[in-house]
Amino acid sequence: MAYCMRHVTEDILWVGASDRRLALFENLFPLPNGVSYNAYLLLDEKTALIDTVDASVAHRQMENVAQALGGRALDYLVVNHLEPDHCANILDILSQYPEARLVTTDKGLKLLNQFYDCDLGERVLLVKEGDQLALGKHVLRFIAAPMVHWPEVTMAFDETDGVLFSADAFGTFGALSGSIFADELPFARDWLADARRYYANIVGKYGVQVQNVLKKAAGLPIKMICPLHGPIWREDLGYILGKYDLWSRGVPEARAVAIFYGSMYGHTENAADILAMQLAEAGVQNIVAYDVSKTDVSYLISELFRVSHVVLAAPTYNNNLYRPMETLLSDMKALCLHDRTFALIENGSWAPQSGKLMSYALGEMKNMTVLTPTATLRSALTPATREALSRLAEAVAKDVEAGEEEAGGTGRREDN
Ligand code: FEO
Repeated sequence: MAYCMRHVTEDILWVGASDRRLALFENLFPLPNGVSYNAYLLLDEKTALIDTVDASVAHRQMENVAQALGGRALDYLVVNHLEPDHCANILDILSQYPEARLVTTDKGLKLLNQFYDCDLGERVLLVKEGDQLALGKHVLRFIAAPMVHWPEVTMAFDETDGVLFSADAFGTFGALSGSIFADELPFARDWLADARRYYANIVGKYGVQVQNVLKKAAGLPIKMICPLHGPIWREDLGYILGKYDLWSRGVPEARAVAIFYGSMYGHTENAADILAMQLAEAGVQNIVAYDVSKTDVSYLISELFRVSHVVLAAPTYNNNLYRPMETLLSDMKALCLHDRTFALIENGSWAPQSGKLMSYALGEMKNMTVLTPTATLRSALTPATREALSRLAEAVAKDVEAGEEEAGGTGRREDN
């Protein structure tokens, strides 16, 4: 009697589970709001379970599937993605339901055999792009989504009801608490930031591949999107599709400034705060500032997907770059971030190097513009530094405003 599930449509049930205990997704990304592992059971003449869940909630899924089937056999287990947060329960499901055939691609089967020592023989049904699986009234069509964000990923499209089972795409961090549909939640206010952080850090490197899938999706009569994490989209699909289009093309959501500073004794922080005030006085709206030493880098990466302009401020450390700033720049390069505008503040008590090093790191990325002049502190603020910051603020404000005119917008932040 431990089942906990909801109808998605008359024939589709959400049979996943949420985890609010896990601290770090992939043992990397903080989960202050938990995470959901979604799975869906389609009941027709044939029955199909679409994906399994993480090991931490595997028993919940077993209860849900058993209850939803109500004594019927499971005919198919469709596996769209072989990452362990969705494939941990595969062997238990196949063991519990011996009639079930596992539906996956050749790449999916290869990964399955790497994760598990199993020989499923005739129980495997291999599919590829465009193949269909008839369940009765419903027909699933498979859509390849390679490198969104693993090579084997497929999506399944229910041609009857227009439901896209989208694997990780359109997913987000955050546990589901009863409300499983985005339209039941204040999504823009409470969920968008984590949806962006999920996209930026998990899928963000693969913008070209996401664009390819969005082009395929544009040709489908999609009425609902069922991702593997976070809420289901059944209204205002254009909202999340639009965000994905911007994020995957590397286009900022807002003409806005994020200031990322590292500071050992508060002087660089002081400069960052002064610059923020100068920017505000120059008319820039939507300025946010983060201490890179105490902010998990996943949040900084997420903001980099949102804003048009970024100020990096950091001390020189051992004739190198202050380590948390170095980590951020290294992550930006690894995730192939591109097309942003930067301003730099450096500090160094006897040999300032951080400005040059930040500039060099940005130069290794695509289409990163660095505004001049870099503001230099030698230990602490002086009237001359304040003047240099003022010139930098002017340059940033002018550039933000120029883009606003081009975009025809105000840059005012409407959602987080
Ligand atoms: Fe949610 Fe790529 O696993």
